[in-house]
Amino acid sequence: MHAKVVVVGSLNMDLIVRTPRFPVGGETLAGHGFATAPGGKGANQAVAAARLGTTVAMVGCVGGDAHGAELRAGLLAEGIDCSAVAKVPGVATGIATILVDDAGQNAIVIAAGGNAEMTAERLADHDALLQAADIVIAQLEVPMATVEATLVRGHELGRTVILNPAPAVGPLPAHWYGLVDYLIPNESEAALLTGLPVDSPETALQAAQRLLEAGARRVLVTLGSQGVLYADGERHMHLPVEPVVAVDTTAAGDTFVGGFAAGLAEGLPLEAAIRLGQQAAALAVTRPGAQPSIPHRHELPA
Ligand code: RIB
Ligand code: NA
Repeated sequence: MHAKVVVVGSLNMDLIVRTPRFPVGGETLAGHGFATAPGGKGANQAVAAARLGTTVAMVGCVGGDAHGAELRAGLLAEGIDCSAVAKVPGVATGIATILVDDAGQNAIVIAAGGNAEMTAERLADHDALLQAADIVIAQLEVPMATVEATLVRGHELGRTVILNPAPAVGPLPAHWYGLVDYLIPNESEAALLTGLPVDSPETALQAAQRLLEAGARRVLVTLGSQGVLYADGERHMHLPVEPVVAVDTTAAGDTFVGGFAAGLAEGLPLEAAIRLGQQAAALAVTRPGAQPSIPHRHELPA
């Protein structure tokens, strides 16, 4: 059976320490506890899309270690096609060291490990998945050349191409914008991509307009507790969210992206697909860990 959604991206094992606050340079702090949980922006988005009701294939690389085996098994248990998740011997699986403070905010340092092995050549080996898909999703935790190849091929095949430019480190190559159907940055990424301050629906709209001028077709800026700002060449809308008590915001953005894609894959109108992503993300922030916190469709209001 073909997967409607193909995610090309990262798989990480998250090493999570809860802390009263973030330390400053040179400081040692006592945390509240430690946990490991499956993560990685690519894999989180794949899990979200699967739990929210669509068929998914993952394209990525893990190392030959126990973390890699666990991550792969976790995706398989979700019914995700892992035929394109390669195991690269002699390399460590990607790791994210995550601090989560008492307000549920996080600070993350990633070590790419196997994700750096996810080359454009490997992607080309799995072209059949892109050919069979409706939607192709990429983030920025695998090499830029691979992201580019994903966008180029997805666009060439006429697939709906979603780019979540996370984590953003600077401007995107100018020619990427025209390859993307839905560009989904969060507020800090939108600020980084445009050089504009983004901290409200109004400033998000200004940034989105800048991204549209750069060639993006449709832009969704995720604003955490302030909801989502959508803009295309013709219209824009702000979709607020119900307030929730955040326990751990890790993977909130990923849950939104995967949920939105699942909504599009089932043919929901744009606004309903956005709401599906929002409802799922709102629930994910109330629970700890990345993949463990991502809800199933039956947990959401109908
Ligand atoms: O977006 C959240 C994810 O970012 C975490 O799961 C971590 O692995 C990092 O990639
Ligand atoms: Na969470």
